[in-house]
Amino acid sequence: MQKIIAANWKMYKTRPEAAQTAAELALALADGTPHDRLVLVFPPFMAVDVVAEVFTGKKNLAVGGQNFYPAGQGAFTGEISTGMLNDVGATWVLVGHSERRHVFNESDELIARKTAFALAQGFKVMLCVGEMLHEREAGRLRDVLSRQLSTALDPLPEALSGALAERLVVAYEPVWAIGTGKVAGPVEVQEAHAALRALLADILGETAAELPILYGGSVKPANAFGLVGLDNVDGLLVGASSLEAQSFLQIIGS
Ligand code: PGA
Repeated sequence: MQKIIAANWKMYKTRPEAAQTAAELALALADGTPHDRLVLVFPPFMAVDVVAEVFTGKKNLAVGGQNFYPAGQGAFTGEISTGMLNDVGATWVLVGHSERRHVFNESDELIARKTAFALAQGFKVMLCVGEMLHEREAGRLRDVLSRQLSTALDPLPEALSGALAERLVVAYEPVWAIGTGKVAGPVEVQEAHAALRALLADILGETAAELPILYGGSVKPANAFGLVGLDNVDGLLVGASSLEAQSFLQIIGS
């Protein structure tokens, strides 16, 4: 399975700053990505077009939107549609990121609608799941992951199931490890990824074996190599350490 290394730039970088970092990445990866990896960047909305432009024609580099509202168009002040993202060159979207769930109170139900909508619009979806510290400490890891996955994927119309193997990626990001500097240890990561693989098999059957499961949460150049080598870890989703091209390039090369 091709490993995926994704950058989530969150609410960082103006357009010129994003263009500069994207250009540094594209230049360094001009001859292909190390180990044939797929590299994704989720810039803030205002910079999706400039990053897409820099990545045009570059094999193994793609751009995504960090968010969208699941409707074609309408009276949804402040929101962005998948059509608008498509128009500026995004082919991926993030859904269910912990900051959307916990800072912006997105419900499992909204996340399910977003997942189905983006897939129906032809986007590739990175569905993020992960438990809070008190949930893990209470032994509820599997329950939380099960609820998040089944609410997002169970209501998928039959017609979309065929698209999943090609267009769905799951990112496991324990909430307590995001932006905290606290990386989950190999045992914790493997436990969660094995649980996710089994839960996906329950929900999706054979397709589950082909779905990439990424790890995210305080990934840095110093720990990327160890994480990406673990069983069932098919890539990484990187926040803070993806903001500087040099640091993200080291992670891509891990
Ligand atoms: P972090 O963020 O790498 O800064 O912990 C990861 C994420 O939120 O996707």
